[in-house]
Amino acid sequence: MSDKTMEKIVALCKRRGFIFQSSEIYGGIGGFWDYGPLGVEMKRNIKDAWWYDMVTGNDDTLPPAGAPSSYSMVGLDASIIMHPQVWKASGHYDLFHDLFVDCKTCKQRFRLDQIADSQCPRKPSKHPGEHSECDLTEPREFNLMFKTYVGALHDPSAEAYLRPETAQGIFVNFKNVMSTTRVKLPFGIAQIGKSFRNEITPRNYTFRSREFEQMEIEFFCSPKESQRWYEYWRDRRFSWYTSLGLASDKLRLRDHSPEERAHYSCGTADIEYAFPFLAQGEYGELEGVSHRGDFDLRSHMEGKLVRDGDGFAVELDEHGQPRYAGSGKDLSYFDEETKKKYIPHVIEPSAGADRAMLAFLCEAYTEDAIPDDKGVPQPRVVLKLHPRLAPVKVAVFPLIKKDGMPDVAAEIYRELKKKWNVYYDQKGSIGRRYRRQDESGTPYCITVDHQTLEDGTVTLRDRDTTVQERVKSIDLTTIIAERLAV
Ligand code: GAP
Repeated sequence: MSDKTMEKIVALCKRRGFIFQSSEIYGGIGGFWDYGPLGVEMKRNIKDAWWYDMVTGNDDTLPPAGAPSSYSMVGLDASIIMHPQVWKASGHYDLFHDLFVDCKTCKQRFRLDQIADSQCPRKPSKHPGEHSECDLTEPREFNLMFKTYVGALHDPSAEAYLRPETAQGIFVNFKNVMSTTRVKLPFGIAQIGKSFRNEITPRNYTFRSREFEQMEIEFFCSPKESQRWYEYWRDRRFSWYTSLGLASDKLRLRDHSPEERAHYSCGTADIEYAFPFLAQGEYGELEGVSHRGDFDLRSHMEGKLVRDGDGFAVELDEHGQPRYAGSGKDLSYFDEETKKKYIPHVIEPSAGADRAMLAFLCEAYTEDAIPDDKGVPQPRVVLKLHPRLAPVKVAVFPLIKKDGMPDVAAEIYRELKKKWNVYYDQKGSIGRRYRRQDESGTPYCITVDHQTLEDGTVTLRDRDTTVQERVKSIDLTTIIAERLAV
């Protein structure tokens, strides 16, 4: 039985070069992480799988299972720093904040909603981490957007923000995409990119970082159909995670209560995973799927919106003018079939690439035992990653560094490398080389041995079962393509 703890998973990620603390040689910086040689490959595989499954692999002519109709998908890569008015009209300037308190004893800052389980290092108690209320300041608001200055002047007119979500880059380009492509509603615009939030308490490894990557879709549809599309995207996105190996009993789809929803949302469901750093029965958010109505396009047309009864109205200042003006551009859609004009509704599946990676790593981490040369079971750590996500697909080894074996192995390596990320290693005991690849999540290892030199066969070892079979080296590309199916 595998005993997964975050300590073990973090240690493996460091040991094998998946994830490093940012600026580690200077003591690190809280909430920032670097992806090492294996980590960068795995994260890219996650983003590529998402991009293919959601965007380039989408069949614009056929409705996918469960979808109300067929639809188009296109991509976008917007800038990280945008016009500051974007964040005023969207509501982030006023509303994107957390409440924090300072502990007067330990002088540290905590999110108000996390104070119950936070640590006060200066005040050990029987209940670890308990803060005594009297030690805390009154809650204050803290905007999570990172501020910067554009140009040489450091005055308020030059203030700008690092985007806290990729979504707004899509909304402000809605008209550009409509007028430069032939897409018609319903269609989605997808984007992968970095977002930044000055989180008060980054925690749980990469789960809550200050710099992270989002994979977001803004799906535009008619108001009449939006509820059906919302349900479609909730299910579609949930099954994406199970298709890549997350166990469905550790995943859940949780509908937000009306009080919990963001100000723009008329319905949100979170896809959540039972991360090992959480208590039994607790789940952490992997992705939010939101029904945003016409809130975003309308905000960028008219200005910042506030709740008004059941709907929204432009927020006015003391002179009766919009408090934060929109662009004034017409972002509505003319439906040629019905001859009606309306502001499209938006369904937003918004995923975090770093959280997805953390979940896939946690799920894949396995401890088992395999027999050594004498048949004695030896413990091993293996990352049972889905082949699409595995950073290295195949490793090729000569059994020993002589008798021409390295030349034959290098030839196989070069041939397979034309198709996949393949690793070559000729140093150390073969057992140790296998173990290293097991920890890296490499699905297959090929070993060139004495018999290879006689009959052209090699051993092909399966990561999960450790079973080795002899196959002809000329068949390797076909066999591996079939097994990886990637
Ligand atoms: N556009 C909507 C939006 O940004 P969100 O729920 O704030 O919604 C979407 O973020 C996803 O981005 C989350 O489900 C999570 O996967 C990821 N994410 C958000 N904040 C994060 C952070 N501080 N660190 C890592 N990932 C984060």
